[in-house]
Amino acid sequence: MKLIDGKEAAAKLQKTIAAEVAKMIDNDLKAPHLVAILVGDEPASQTYVNAKEKASRAVGITSSVYRLSEKTTENELLNLVDFLNQDEEVDGFIVQLPLPKHIQVERILNRIDYRKDVDGFHPMNIGKMVLGEEALLPATPQGILYLLEYYKIETKGKNVVVLGRSNIVGTPISILLSRKAKLGDATVTLCHSRTENIAQITKSADIIIAAIGQAEFLKADMVKEGVVVIDVGIHRIEDLKLEKGYRLIGDVDFKGVSKKASFITPVPGGVGPMTIAALLKNTLLAAKKRGQ
Ligand code: GUN
Repeated sequence: MKLIDGKEAAAKLQKTIAAEVAKMIDNDLKAPHLVAILVGDEPASQTYVNAKEKASRAVGITSSVYRLSEKTTENELLNLVDFLNQDEEVDGFIVQLPLPKHIQVERILNRIDYRKDVDGFHPMNIGKMVLGEEALLPATPQGILYLLEYYKIETKGKNVVVLGRSNIVGTPISILLSRKAKLGDATVTLCHSRTENIAQITKSADIIIAAIGQAEFLKADMVKEGVVVIDVGIHRIEDLKLEKGYRLIGDVDFKGVSKKASFITPVPGGVGPMTIAALLKNTLLAAKKRGQ
């Protein structure tokens, strides 16, 4: 079994981004600027936004965060999106999800200028992705593609099983891996809450992408020997033995599945760092496009 080191792969990608940012600055262009909007004070979202801010700084991308109250109205958030859409200083921005229940996510995401949509969630970017046109690709699926490329894991003709059909991971990664492309050409099966005989399907998989949102859902008896496993899940489990009071686990029973896998991502340190690196890559792309 080989551990897929997302931190190492992300560091490599971030190094190339940093070099490109440095080149922009050498050419008297301004550094790309990324903005994050965080509504409410959910601890996990705060952690992610802090990590994104820190990673931006490390590659020379300037960043700022709007920290808004849980009580922010949909209209107030739409107004901020409108403001950032027209702000010349801003190359890309993200709205950290989940949003409070009184705000309709689709209304907010659809309002973002798709050229600044560095999360790749806007219908225009999703549509372009489906058609194989140049687009800002969703960060987590893009990060997964980088990991597969970094570890030279072949996808052509392979049976890929994706667990979970969310708009931000399951659905886009199924589309990307089935495209006629270098990191595609796979035969993809998308499983979800209504799928019958999931274990039978996962057992035939060469590659499994677990993004189902259930802690340790994928067990050793559901996979074949030599499978490649990408775990997108992240769950906080209370652990009072640790100073922070919790530990992180994924959608995969790592202890059991790693005994049969040829490659597997850990949680944390697998997909997470790649999502951030892909976000930075999108910010750089958005900034370059705006400069053209
Ligand atoms: N919440 C969980 N994943 C993501 C992500 O990739 N982007 C944003 N904005 N929110 C998230």
